Amino acid sequence: MIRVPASLVTVGKRFRYDIFDENGQLLLMRGMLVASEPQVAIIKRQGFRKPAKARAVSNFGAISWISDRLTVMEEDILEKRDGGVWKKRIANLVRDFVDIVDAEPDAAFANLHLETRHSYFVVHSMMAAVVCARLALARGYSEQARARLISAALTHDFGIIDLQRQINHDTGLTPEQTARIRQHGSESVRMLRKFGIDDPVWLNTIEDHHEYLDGSGYAGKQEAEIAEPARILAIADAISAMLRPRPYRERIFASQALERLFVDDFQRYDRSILEALFWDLGFYPPGSLVRLASRELGVAVRNTPGLLDSPVVAILTDPDGHPLLAPVLRDPHNPDYAIVEALDPSLANRVGRVIEDCWATPGMSAGRQAKIA
Ligand SMILES: [Fe+2]
Ligand SMILES: [Fe+2]
Repeated sequence: MIRVPASLVTVGKRFRYDIFDENGQLLLMRGMLVASEPQVAIIKRQGFRKPAKARAVSNFGAISWISDRLTVMEEDILEKRDGGVWKKRIANLVRDFVDIVDAEPDAAFANLHLETRHSYFVVHSMMAAVVCARLALARGYSEQARARLISAALTHDFGIIDLQRQINHDTGLTPEQTARIRQHGSESVRMLRKFGIDDPVWLNTIEDHHEYLDGSGYAGKQEAEIAEPARILAIADAISAMLRPRPYRERIFASQALERLFVDDFQRYDRSILEALFWDLGFYPPGSLVRLASRELGVAVRNTPGLLDSPVVAILTDPDGHPLLAPVLRDPHNPDYAIVEALDPSLANRVGRVIEDCWATPGMSAGRQAKIA
């Protein structure tokens, strides 16, 4: 590890390499802005870079840097610590989140789909925010309106962090817990106001994220009473919750989750937003693990436009289950490589880091990028 020269570290500076602390924890990703004086001080004190030939952080891995930072916020809230200038912290988080997600939105979704390292709160909020970021693009939102929606998604469950932890360990819900769940939108808003956040769209989006068009939500609002950003967050919240297993229920595969939204709950949601979600993710969203007709194990890399059930798949093992050293992309139109089964994403632990190379990695030599075969 090489120390970052202190004289180079100033507010507004961007580095062409990742900066780590001495334990190898990422402090600043390459290309990201040094945003504040406290950050300058931290990097000056404990910033290192790896020698040039060391592996760069992949697009797949980059989003974990945001998950780590949201974890620190989660702990600050749980421990009731003074978290500093929250408004600025959240704004910085959202800015870096947008940069990373926009560099490779499928890698960001896949990471959250597969990840097991962070808490339910962190992965759920991050995935809801990635879905919101994608849907906001599909709906033609301005940069500012999109950032507001993402801010709402990342903070919508701030008011229920402690309870989410308890639910992870308990079996049933007490009447008080049920009451708190019904209040959690308002509770998150109250907390954010205390943090100095007063943007009415951001706060209303959170307040109404459990309101449904048919009036079956917590406050019974209907149709025109629910603004579009809240309608988007309601859908992003639901799909993100379903794709994650909980102690009291199994994981639901994406195709079942979409079917539930479309068939069972369709009166609740805005049809045109549901359709945008459907076509954006398909039945095998990025990160879905699948078995192919060739018996190889693969991961869905990205959706094929216009086809719901034939994503581009990268194989991670040979037909006998031996992990590959580098992924190989399979042509979704070739019947030999048809998907025959969806597999539990937790199986990804068995194939090691090869999965990171399925999405383009900046700085990686072209020879290691996955090739179509
Ligand atoms: Fe919620
Ligand atoms: Fe939620």
